[in-house]
Amino acid sequence: MTQLQFDGPVVAGCPISSAGAQYQPFDHDSMYAFMQRARLEEPVFYCAEIGYWVVTRHADVLPVFRDPDRFSAAIALTPVKPLPAAVLAYLRDNGYGAEATQVSCDRPKHTRIRDFAMQVLNAREYAALEPAIRAIVCRCCDALAGRERVDLIADFAYELPALVIFLLLGIPDEDAPKIKKWADNRLLFTFGELDDAGQMRAAEQMLDYWKYCVALVEARKREPGADYASKLLAMRAGDDARLTENEIASLVFGLLLAGHETTTNMTGNAVRALLSHRGEWEKICRDPALIPGAVEECLRFASSVVCWRRRSLVDVVIGGVPIPAGSNILLATGSANHDEVRFPNAEAFDITRANAREHIAFGNGIHFCLGAALARLELRVILEELVARWPGMRLADEPIDMVRTLAFRGPLRLMVTLGAPGLGVPA
Ligand code: HEM
Repeated sequence: MTQLQFDGPVVAGCPISSAGAQYQPFDHDSMYAFMQRARLEEPVFYCAEIGYWVVTRHADVLPVFRDPDRFSAAIALTPVKPLPAAVLAYLRDNGYGAEATQVSCDRPKHTRIRDFAMQVLNAREYAALEPAIRAIVCRCCDALAGRERVDLIADFAYELPALVIFLLLGIPDEDAPKIKKWADNRLLFTFGELDDAGQMRAAEQMLDYWKYCVALVEARKREPGADYASKLLAMRAGDDARLTENEIASLVFGLLLAGHETTTNMTGNAVRALLSHRGEWEKICRDPALIPGAVEECLRFASSVVCWRRRSLVDVVIGGVPIPAGSNILLATGSANHDEVRFPNAEAFDITRANAREHIAFGNGIHFCLGAALARLELRVILEELVARWPGMRLADEPIDMVRTLAFRGPLRLMVTLGAPGLGVPA
């Protein structure tokens, strides 16, 4: 293993890792600076706190995503902190039936299901939603009008992406508060560091969330519409070999998390990155045609998903480090997106960066994010509307607390002053 330059204690036992002892998997404040050192000094290290091998370089992360023969995705949604027996029994005894269908599902089941899901979740379908998405964004902007200081998360980005996913799922807007609460809880349950009592409380909400999805599918069976579940039921055509009803409920359950928590956090990260690099913000105010490039650079520089998980199916060697079969592997995508070897001057935030789109914020390979085109569209429309209305927007001078989970990164609050509406870019 590489000689270590990290300060501080070396973890006793095997595998020995100095970076692993210092890595703080739930703390994203200093993550990028830590990972910069890790890429140079110990690019693949073991973190005993979570029991994962952490892979930090772009050149090592990408091949793992692209190799489903040797790396299983089944661990992607396993709670990072193992569930106590009482929680498992509670879920089992009360009818919790969510099953792996997409992001945590391996082939051949994954291929069968993804082929159906892609008939609805694709760029063409999303593009047709653009006018409706813009109407939602405008409504959320209108709600800020006349205010001087707002929290761009609570007052704007918190519910907005959920309302977009509701367009696909045919869910009424008034369900947003409970679904957002369930989704926040689900992130902590799966990616957080709850104690046993916290996990039990979270499990109770997981059950309510799951039952909501089952009821939604039941309702669509009685009264089909033009929504995702109805279309999947039509594709199923009563044949379990194509899709089961439980798989359809699980797909709805999956979309009701993947489809909005990521984009809420990404909106916060994007606006924060742009406002704290004032020159870049002003460029998109002057020339909104630069916004698609800015979206890619925001995804590279400050993604809302900073790591993803795999498990080795055989003995492997990553970055020269031997890793046994059955090991947990954390692909540090946030780090890979800051890798100087792939992105020259990687710590600079440059909305005209030529290869920003080579980021792996959406993963890669057979599990590549099915909502990438939707997220890009939403972020573009959000930025178009914000710069048109409030080019003078500024970050308020106050500390920013981040979401505390293993994989998801975003500000809990983002206080900004809006400035005068539509007066153009200040000189
Ligand atoms: C900025 C926002 C988003 C980010 C950063 C993000 C990131 C990711 C990542 C890292 C994966 C795992 C990829 C892999 O294992 O290779 C994934 C999978 C997935 N995402 Fe997203 N995502 C975002 C938005 C969305 C949206 C809006 C949707 C809704 C349509 C969505 C739906 C999915 C689905 C269904 C999968 C599973 C694909 C599969 O396993 O076949 N995501 N996403």
